[in-house]
Amino acid sequence: MPKIVILPGDGIGPEVTAAAVEVLREVAPDLTFEEHLIGGIAYEAHGEPFPQVTRDALTDADAVLLGTVGGPQNSPWNSLARPLRPESGLLALRKALGCYANLRPVRVQPGLEHLSPLKPELARGVDILIVRELLGGVYFDQDRSIDGDTAYNTMRYTTPEVERVAKMAFWAAEQRKGRVTSVDKANVLEVSELWRRDVQALRDREYRSIHLNHEYVDSVAMLIVSDPSRYDVIVTENLFGDILSDLAAVIPGSLGLMPSASLGDGAGLFEPIHGSAPDIAGKGIANPAAAIMSAAMLLRHGLKRSDAANQIERAVALALREEPTRDLGGKADTQTFTRAVLEAMGTPVG
Ligand code: NAD
Ligand code: IPM
Ligand code: MN
Repeated sequence: MPKIVILPGDGIGPEVTAAAVEVLREVAPDLTFEEHLIGGIAYEAHGEPFPQVTRDALTDADAVLLGTVGGPQNSPWNSLARPLRPESGLLALRKALGCYANLRPVRVQPGLEHLSPLKPELARGVDILIVRELLGGVYFDQDRSIDGDTAYNTMRYTTPEVERVAKMAFWAAEQRKGRVTSVDKANVLEVSELWRRDVQALRDREYRSIHLNHEYVDSVAMLIVSDPSRYDVIVTENLFGDILSDLAAVIPGSLGLMPSASLGDGAGLFEPIHGSAPDIAGKGIANPAAAIMSAAMLLRHGLKRSDAANQIERAVALALREEPTRDLGGKADTQTFTRAVLEAMGTPVG
């Protein structure tokens, strides 16, 4: 009986995670679930955003499903010492799991082009996988400071860090169209010069069947929305990947349609890419599709159950056609949409 640790977190996290668990229970009744606190809610209960009891639960977990963490702009959490803030809890969780590669698929399902603000001919058939490096760069470097009128962060990467995430991108491309675009800022940054050199050298050594090109991040920010079909797999460092993936959410039509899988040394971490959406939290109207599709990625990558994952993804596509949520211009609330997914999976609804 695989053990799934559920970390609902803050804001809309509990709302969308509950929907994802409901769907998981239907397709995989043998799973066991253990729920724990992370983020601001964990800070309130335990004085830290990633408490020991949550950390302990990971040791025998087969996979982790996370909601979201963080409060609104004016939350007192944002003035805590940085290690006590909700977002630090999430970063510590990623580190503890050793999840260095964050897979963020951007897909426009056939028949759902109308949900995109892009012209239908641009949205049609888009299928991009953003592979975001998740444990390095400015996010984790300890060479950082804020003191009086001066502050700095350090973007540092080593060859092994670049190679392990690049391998994941090449592996993914082998199952897809065989094309990888490595995104950097090598015209300005030394760290990008190393990134580009190492990604290219790995391709030339071990992945000669992959077509690899290199593009600058500023240009990609334009091209990913104006000509998204040019991309198959994109691999990039932590901060660039964070920004580009929110931008790419415009293509399918909402942040609420962007799931992710974080893979690495041990159990995988599965989470929507969106945040805690304080503006709609508690209203029951959040789009749970990203969380439900993250559960599908959990089944595919974490438990090697591709059939169940495909079943969920098909049902989500059908539900999006029948009962689009408000972020997509529809009327469905979280419950209505989740029920539509369950119905589309052919399960009786109680
Ligand atoms: P956000 O992603 O929470 O929200 C941006 C906009 O998208 C909002 O208008 C929100 O209502 C909407 N939105 C997001 N997800 C949605 C969904 N599932 N359904 C419908 N609408 C949705 O970004 P933000 O406002 O910049 O950040 C809010 C908080 O979330 C901050 O504390 C931030 O640090 C945190 N955050 C957490 C994560 C995470 O847990 N992985 C990711 C991003 C931001
Ligand atoms: C995300 C979020 C996180 C990140 C924050 C909340 C730490 O924006 O998962 O995309 O920047 O990685
Ligand atoms: Mn983000």
